[in-house]
Amino acid sequence: MVALKSAREIETMRRSGKITAKVLTDIMHAVRPGVSTRDLDRIAEEGIRGLGGIPTFMGYHGYPASICASVNAEVVHGIPGDYVLQEGDLLSVDIGTTLDGYVSDTAVTVGVGAISEQAQRLLDVTQECLMLGIAAMQPGNHLGDIGAAVQAHAEKHGYGVVRELVGHGVGTAMHEEPQVPNYGRRGTGIELRPGLVLAVEPMITQGDYRVKILKDGWTVVTADGKLAAHFEHTIAVTQDGPKILTLRQFGEHPDAEKYRPSEEAIV
Ligand code: MF3
Ligand code: CO
Ligand code: CO
Repeated sequence: MVALKSAREIETMRRSGKITAKVLTDIMHAVRPGVSTRDLDRIAEEGIRGLGGIPTFMGYHGYPASICASVNAEVVHGIPGDYVLQEGDLLSVDIGTTLDGYVSDTAVTVGVGAISEQAQRLLDVTQECLMLGIAAMQPGNHLGDIGAAVQAHAEKHGYGVVRELVGHGVGTAMHEEPQVPNYGRRGTGIELRPGLVLAVEPMITQGDYRVKILKDGWTVVTADGKLAAHFEHTIAVTQDGPKILTLRQFGEHPDAEKYRPSEEAIV
């Protein structure tokens, strides 16, 4: 069953999303060679709690941290730890906050110091995939329109679209129905209606789309060892189109501004 959210619930999710976005911005500013992923996790936990939220990931199916920090061939769900970031790494940070019972979930991939042109291209295209997926979230469109838009853009650039992990509904739980694949066909799946809140999260690979899980039981890596990127937002479908609840002040694609929620009621 796919639950639609009331205007009031979406307002709460926007407040949750503002905390997540602010703390992710702080983390992005802290990323540089010499910083460990555990240092970033500490910024996340202290930042979220300092703003009155709860780190959603902590304890989720036993997950031991407040962020996922996935480096290079790691696609998602890397556990923060001793790893020290090096110039040229690609780092994906995924972060979630629960505020007043409502979750927001967002992720970015950034370069550590100077990165290769090819790596930058992967980041740019993956962020564009997210924006195109969001643009497809007009009321009256269908779920498959999101994945179709993401997939077409990634594959046009010769990249792989991870199949085994998908976006999802978001609400009082981080993962609600429906699943939101990053591949699919236009016009298929449920109709998108005002009040639907989704996490759209393209996971795009430089090579083959196949992935495997490391022995820690969490870290998802590309099977071929090539780079991956991951961008994610929590977005509400409204009568006025999609509204990004995790919009940041920093590092957004220019198109993201079109989807800024008004500070009024947003359904
Ligand atoms: N935030 C991830 C997602 O985008 C899930 C993280 S699982 C956790 O769906 F265990 F790390 F919390
Ligand atoms: Co996430
Ligand atoms: Co998610």
